[in-house]
Amino acid sequence: MKSISIRYKIWLTIISVSVFTILLVTIVSYYLYQILYIEKQTDILLKQGRNLEAVFLEENQEVLSDRLQWVEESSETSIIFTDDPMQLGSGAPFDSFAEQNLITFSERQELLLGKTLIFTKYHTGLEQEIRAVVVPLILNDRLEAVIFLYMPLTAITEAFQPIRMLLFSSIVILIIFLVGIGLKMTNRIVRPLVEMEKLAKEIAQGNFAKRVAVQGKDEITSLGKSINTMSENLHEVDKERKEFLGNVSHELRTPISYLKGYSEAVKENLITTEKYIETIEKETDRMNQLVHDLLDLAQLDGTSYPLDKEPVILSEMVKEIVRRFRLELKEKKIITELDLNEEVVVLGDYKRLDQVIVNLLSNAIKFTPENRKIKISVHQMKDLGIFQIEDEGIGIPENDLPYIFERFYRVEKARTRKTGGTGLGLSIVQQIVNKHKGNVQLESTSGRGTKVTVKLPLFSF
Ligand SMILES: Nc1ncnc2c1ncn2[C@@H]1O[C@H](COP(=O)(O)OP(=O)(O)OP(=O)(O)O)[C@@H](O)[C@H]1O
Ligand SMILES: [Mg+2]
Repeated sequence: MKSISIRYKIWLTIISVSVFTILLVTIVSYYLYQILYIEKQTDILLKQGRNLEAVFLEENQEVLSDRLQWVEESSETSIIFTDDPMQLGSGAPFDSFAEQNLITFSERQELLLGKTLIFTKYHTGLEQEIRAVVVPLILNDRLEAVIFLYMPLTAITEAFQPIRMLLFSSIVILIIFLVGIGLKMTNRIVRPLVEMEKLAKEIAQGNFAKRVAVQGKDEITSLGKSINTMSENLHEVDKERKEFLGNVSHELRTPISYLKGYSEAVKENLITTEKYIETIEKETDRMNQLVHDLLDLAQLDGTSYPLDKEPVILSEMVKEIVRRFRLELKEKKIITELDLNEEVVVLGDYKRLDQVIVNLLSNAIKFTPENRKIKISVHQMKDLGIFQIEDEGIGIPENDLPYIFERFYRVEKARTRKTGGTGLGLSIVQQIVNKHKGNVQLESTSGRGTKVTVKLPLFSF
């Protein structure tokens, strides 16, 4: 089925509402006017009837004839006076009513009872509706005569003329008003929607630069704002993704080109083999580590590798890891100072927490000169287990601090290359800690040292 545009629907609604309103207003005002008008005419007929009745009762025949004539001449009223009420029933002597009875049998019965009749009837002679009032003239309990007063209703259509003009002009104004509203509505609703649709298509094609113009406070505006925000977020994600891929390929390209160059040199026997083999090994290790870290990050990002949580005694873990690093520590003559609360048990994934401490300790060792100290403490604060590692190393410049947890971020690219890092360690640490619903903070002063604090939820017994 072909879709019907909102613009079309809005106009359809406006048009049907207008047609309905116009019809309703016309009909209602016409009927109101007619009712009021007829009532007024009826009043006139009644008053004239009553006056003539009084004349009949008080004056003689002559005066009455004069009055009858005068009323007919001075108003739109026509009068039939008869002192033989039966004639009205047969209609015979009155030309204009030749083919019909002026009053029915039951009406005549009412006249006999002295009731005044009021009705609207079709007048064959005049070929139109008439309004009639019939006044019975009663003397000594006898129906002596009848005055039949009537008036054609054509006058109504004529009387309706001025109000028709008024109605017509208000309808024109109404139509202009509705068209104005319609234009405003379509502008307010349809145009932004069309624009948003266009933008959505652009976004789908990877173009995030454009925004929809938003102003106001309605749902359409809020939709526009959401689309803008979505576009911004997608842009950000897209940028991050490209940057990440760029970094990955850069990090891989460097060792690969080393490997290629050195293995070619080895093949051609240009230089003593042993030194090259060593470099090849080092670069291979580096690449291996990089691939491993990337896989790790990908796993931590998703939900498919849940944490395998168990109670972990932090102090034991720290002691074990420090033992693992004793050769490196000894080589750099670094003293470790441990302050461990043995009672701190956190709830976590053993292997992942091990990875956190290993990464932080290896950073501390890597960026601390010989003969310095590294302090490690484990303690408890409220319902959190706290692991802290503080070194007296080179520290991190203030400008770099905000980015330090970003993937591939290293303070000194050239120098760290020699030390072998890729800048993934801290992002892995942060991902793991966040997955444990904990948090990690890093404070550092360039040239002074660095302190990293990890807070983890305690295991509750
Ligand atoms: N204890 C520290 N002292 C001084 N600088 C540090 C310290 N820890 C981290 N940094 C700085 O932060 C950067 C990022 O650290 P991160 O652990 O993420 O990467 P890396 O150690 O360089 O490489 P990787 O951990 O992937 O082997 C480091 O390159 C270094 O410049
Ligand atoms: Mg590191």
